[in-house]
Amino acid sequence: MTSSCRAMLVLVALAAAGCADFERGSPAMRDSTNATQDGSVRAEDAGVTVDVSIERVSYTGQVYPLLLSLCRDCHRMGGEATTSGFVLGGDSLADYPTIARLSSSTRPAESRLLAKATGQGHQGGVVISAGADAFEIIVQWVQQGLRP
Ligand code: HEC
Repeated sequence: MTSSCRAMLVLVALAAAGCADFERGSPAMRDSTNATQDGSVRAEDAGVTVDVSIERVSYTGQVYPLLLSLCRDCHRMGGEATTSGFVLGGDSLADYPTIARLSSSTRPAESRLLAKATGQGHQGGVVISAGADAFEIIVQWVQQGLRP
């Protein structure tokens, strides 16, 4: 083995060690923010650790599929509600602004989306009853900041 080759090996070993150190350090860095990646929040007070798990509602995984299955029969181009301000094209990203516009961050449960869905002045009648799982999922999503 030539000396330059050995030097390369040493460099590779050093680089690997450096990476391992960095990986060991990063969870500690995350901890210092008190928020973990799964959305749970850890509060440390007087030596007591409390784990409060907050379930993060997913727009693409929960809210959007729900609206598609419950509302899109009427709320699509050519559907019964085609002239309303709530028409779903079928693409979660493209439809996001429409859905967000009909949601109230200050009063999530009173969002126009939910008022209509629960039958308040809605030609489509009662599609979701207040307090039903679908209702709660949408309310929580609005409360959590309408994350796309
Ligand atoms: C059976 C058909 C039908 C279904 C299903 C339906 N709607 Fe509607 N919706 C209508 C019609 C027709 C209108 C337009 C007249 C009115 O405002 O009631 C409307 C209007 C609305 C509006 C008002 C939009 C605007 O212009 O501001 C909202 C919001 C709405 N619906 C939400 C929903 C939601 C959310 C769902 C599903 C959970 C849903 N609707 C399901 C028929 C339907």
